[in-house]
Amino acid sequence: MLFDSIQEQYRKLKENDAFGVLLHPKVVKNYLLYQKEFKEQPLEMKSQPPNIEIEMTNRCNLACVQCLRSVGLKPYKLGDMDPENYKRILAQFPYAMHISLNGFGEPTMYRHFFDIVAYTRQERPWAKITIYTNGQLIDEAMAQRIIESGLTEVNISIDAARPETYRRVRRGGKLEPLHDNIRRLVRMRREAGARLPMIGLNYVMVNDNEGELVPFVEQAAEFGVDFINCISWAAYDWGFKNRRTRESYLRELEAGKQRIDELGIRCRSFPDISTRWTDPTKPFFCDFYWGEQFRVTYNGDITLGCCTPFAETYSYGNLLEQDFWEIWNGPKFRKNREMAKRNIAPNRTCASCDMFCKSFFSTAEGGGSPAVIPLSPAGAMAPGVVEEKLTA
Ligand SMILES: C[S@@+](CC[C@H](N)C(=O)[O-])C[C@H]1O[C@@H](n2cnc3c(N)ncnc32)[C@H](O)[C@@H]1O
Ligand code: SF4
Ligand code: SF4
Repeated sequence: MLFDSIQEQYRKLKENDAFGVLLHPKVVKNYLLYQKEFKEQPLEMKSQPPNIEIEMTNRCNLACVQCLRSVGLKPYKLGDMDPENYKRILAQFPYAMHISLNGFGEPTMYRHFFDIVAYTRQERPWAKITIYTNGQLIDEAMAQRIIESGLTEVNISIDAARPETYRRVRRGGKLEPLHDNIRRLVRMRREAGARLPMIGLNYVMVNDNEGELVPFVEQAAEFGVDFINCISWAAYDWGFKNRRTRESYLRELEAGKQRIDELGIRCRSFPDISTRWTDPTKPFFCDFYWGEQFRVTYNGDITLGCCTPFAETYSYGNLLEQDFWEIWNGPKFRKNREMAKRNIAPNRTCASCDMFCKSFFSTAEGGGSPAVIPLSPAGAMAPGVVEEKLTA
């Protein structure tokens, strides 16, 4: 067991070119303490999350049906990270080992994106630096900059294998040019003789892409990307409803798994077929309160991953106004940790979250359409996203 874990850590360090972390004992110490605390789940944490997301922008050129920024239930302010603020925020995470420059927006639209990557690489030379992108803007010039940037990994989100489906799911985007962008990025990296950034494709299983996982896997293999991720979507009573049945999911996942094995493509995440969504009686619990998905928004708010746009879980505090530790062990985190340990959802958003506490398929019968806002004719921004003071 211990040997497997050491082997796994060695593999990750090698793959991410991150052995330099061993020269920074405080970073390693924080990582080990975090692993321990994450298991023990105390109310007060002495370690920082080693994996953090910092949002460059929450603007986007698409309006995907499954994306929480399309729900429109929580109006929020749009904006970009100020590079000077980024420096102040990063300084609060001296032990970060994985920095994802993401949130609810499209990082390639951010004007200072490559400056921020270069700065992050310089300040945290050991860190894995990654992005998720819709890939629409990765033309030849951007591909060149990506290859030279110092990024460890680029995940391109697709969620469809057919152009019609892509148009329906990733509203405002086109699949064929995206496929060209992916082929070119892979070719240019090969021609540059570079191993990094690793290039992966992301597929979220949603209502509208039923039956496309297998062709997606085949396309990924043809492009020669390094890996794929397949994930289920986060559905909430407030926003999206899953309309697919358990049988449809299981059938597709099994076919997808088989094709992945046949083609020998590396799959880094795959939905757990057996457990997570199937037990409506499962007691409430969420690891996010201990930092499993820890995000800083473009304006410095600390939020928890997928729940970013929701009012009740929106901000735990602002890193431009308060110190990290004051927030991390402050009243909101402590209350949520304490309630989660008693299996009580601390707010309405968490109570309705299909990720951890309800049956994902309970709404499959007559589940209704997802409450997404139609694409505005003027562009990809969902109407209803307006300026508003951030809610605590
Ligand atoms: C929020 S996007 C931000 C980065 C970029 N704009 C993109 O699309 O990759 C990051 C990832 O979250 C996924 N995502 C969006 N809404 C989701 C949901 N409800 N459940 C699961 N994943 C979701 C997207 O498909 C994408 O792969
Ligand atoms: S591309 Fe889609 S998933 Fe990514 S932020 Fe924009 S709307 Fe959300
Ligand atoms: S229960 Fe769901 S909404 Fe609440 S913090 Fe966890 S993932 Fe987010």
